[in-house]
Amino acid sequence: MNPTRISMSNRIRTFEEYQKEYSYSVAQPEEFWADKASQFVWQKKWDRVLDWNFEKGDSKWFSGAQLNITENCLDRHLPEKANQVALLWEGNDPGEASQKITYQELLNKVCQVANVLLEKGVQKGDRVCLYMPMVPELAIGVLACARIGAIHSVVFAGFSASSLADRIEDAGCKVVLTSDGAFRGNKKIAVKAVVDEALLRCPGVQSVLVLQRTGEKIAMKEGRDCWWHETVPAASANCAPVPVEAEHPLFILYTSGSTGKPKGVLHSTAGYMVYAHYSFLNVFQYDAGDIHWCTADIGWITGHSYIVYGPLLEGATSVMFEGVPTYPDAGRCWEIIDKHSVTHFYTAPTAIRSLMGFGTELFSKYQLNSLKVLGSVGEPINEEAWHWYNDHVGKKRCPIVDTWWQTETGGILISPLAGITKTKPSYATLPLPGVQPILVDAEGNELKGNNVEGNLCIKFPWPSIIRTTYGDHERCIQTYFSTYKGLYFTGDGCKRDEEGYYRILGRVDDVINVSGHRMGTAEVENAINEHPQVIESAVVGYPHDIKGQGIYAFVICEKSDKSAEALRQEITSVVSKIIGPIAKPDKIQIVSGLPKTRSGKIMRRILRKVAEGDISNLGDTSTLLDPAIVDEIKAGALVPLKA
Ligand code: WT7
Repeated sequence: MNPTRISMSNRIRTFEEYQKEYSYSVAQPEEFWADKASQFVWQKKWDRVLDWNFEKGDSKWFSGAQLNITENCLDRHLPEKANQVALLWEGNDPGEASQKITYQELLNKVCQVANVLLEKGVQKGDRVCLYMPMVPELAIGVLACARIGAIHSVVFAGFSASSLADRIEDAGCKVVLTSDGAFRGNKKIAVKAVVDEALLRCPGVQSVLVLQRTGEKIAMKEGRDCWWHETVPAASANCAPVPVEAEHPLFILYTSGSTGKPKGVLHSTAGYMVYAHYSFLNVFQYDAGDIHWCTADIGWITGHSYIVYGPLLEGATSVMFEGVPTYPDAGRCWEIIDKHSVTHFYTAPTAIRSLMGFGTELFSKYQLNSLKVLGSVGEPINEEAWHWYNDHVGKKRCPIVDTWWQTETGGILISPLAGITKTKPSYATLPLPGVQPILVDAEGNELKGNNVEGNLCIKFPWPSIIRTTYGDHERCIQTYFSTYKGLYFTGDGCKRDEEGYYRILGRVDDVINVSGHRMGTAEVENAINEHPQVIESAVVGYPHDIKGQGIYAFVICEKSDKSAEALRQEITSVVSKIIGPIAKPDKIQIVSGLPKTRSGKIMRRILRKVAEGDISNLGDTSTLLDPAIVDEIKAGALVPLKA
């Protein structure tokens, strides 16, 4: 027995324990993580805990082990929790009955879908795409893939047919799980029609399983499409978990970067399992009987790790909500919290800011006294939103965990542990045990000590680190492991204050964060450029009261009779069609040229300044090919400028 090990439990209870665990995790990372992993069910134990080489972008955890993550999410809990609610689903319409799915029921449903996938010829290692609304069948579908060792690729159902097709093609998916349509607020959205359009470009898809949700008429392609309700209930509710190797891919999730098309971030099984569980338990301090509600969509990493895997690995009750926070009114979240006695509420700053706009009178209708912990994720939370959340939702008695992480990190890396770490508005505070952040300057020199600001890197692997970008490991190395030799580079700027607390300052690359959705400016530009009259465009982010960042596009168009307004509308709909409504520019300024250097490079710094409305210090513009263009751009700016 290792004397530095503080307990058999994976759970930290005090700040002193956190400090001990942290030191232990740095001094003896392999022992530390082997200890955390030992509570799970393994078909075969590991031979080695960790092999890594950041220069090659490689991390391998628990080599030699075999396991099935769904056995750990479901079967393992049955002796004590067969009748405990695993998934608590709340529909878009408050009038529709909630669904409470127990651990036993969830296992049965997962096995049925797994058997249908097997019948469709899905084998271990095959890719399955899920393009569905937030209904229990989405979580069930995800787990059904993992049950048989298939790799799930969930695509957020707000993406366009073209984005969906790109993702299906890139991953080489064999099967798609979808629904006829989706309910979202007062809207009914077509889902299957988008899949049909996407599949015109994806001949590799052999089967489509369609859930009936809205009941609208849809086309069913003979020999390819079949109804969920006609196949799943008839399938056997027994399906043995297929053991996979520790590093077997669990899922692919596409995310945007500063260049090119979105990349498929690949996570593998054992390390992701251990870290999703460890971070869930410790950040949220979940106790038996608590009701955890993460409002994210399962189409994003937050939903994967903190609606599905983290909570189920702990045997928790996880709430899944189909609708939006403002339907039927802006009290919907508070109504759901009271209705289900939610203890943990985890949402994005953009949602908080949008609800702030509705005032506080609504709160008089709700108790909110079941709440114990509040969480924030996806973007920096401004102090005003932090205080509003703390005062009106948490009633000043619930710790707020501001959790910093990324699709690539698989789980939360920097965050307070609820009720244990002293919080500070807009600070993600301290790294979790096992996480070794480092700040570097532009040249890669480590910024030691406190009160420093630089680029955030991580210098040692944690179990749920990205394994590769699907089908292109070189891109993974280029994006994350080559900016600073021997380090994982996050793309975020960060400050470490006088007490060693971390504050995330936002992206330092050409990635923008719009309502917590990550977008590459190049991706939006490519979509804008698809408009036949667009010659060139440049996209930057600008501060937006609710979305965090808005999208500001500067566009050069061919001469025509169309009004600027007509062009703007057309460009907006092209972007919506190519990427999806989340990428629609908030502002489109038609310009006659862009500020370019003599070597043809766009000076984005100038465009960012104009979009921010702050032209006090545009810096050196003497290297511009045509300095006059800056005056034209300033004169036509779509935001008020302060000089
Ligand atoms: C980027 C990752 C993590 C799941 C949701 C987003 C930003 C994330 C915070 C936070 C400040 C944050 C970063 C990061 N971000 N959490 N608590 N404070 N910024 O995942 O889409 O992969 O985006 O979101 O810029 O790099 P993602």
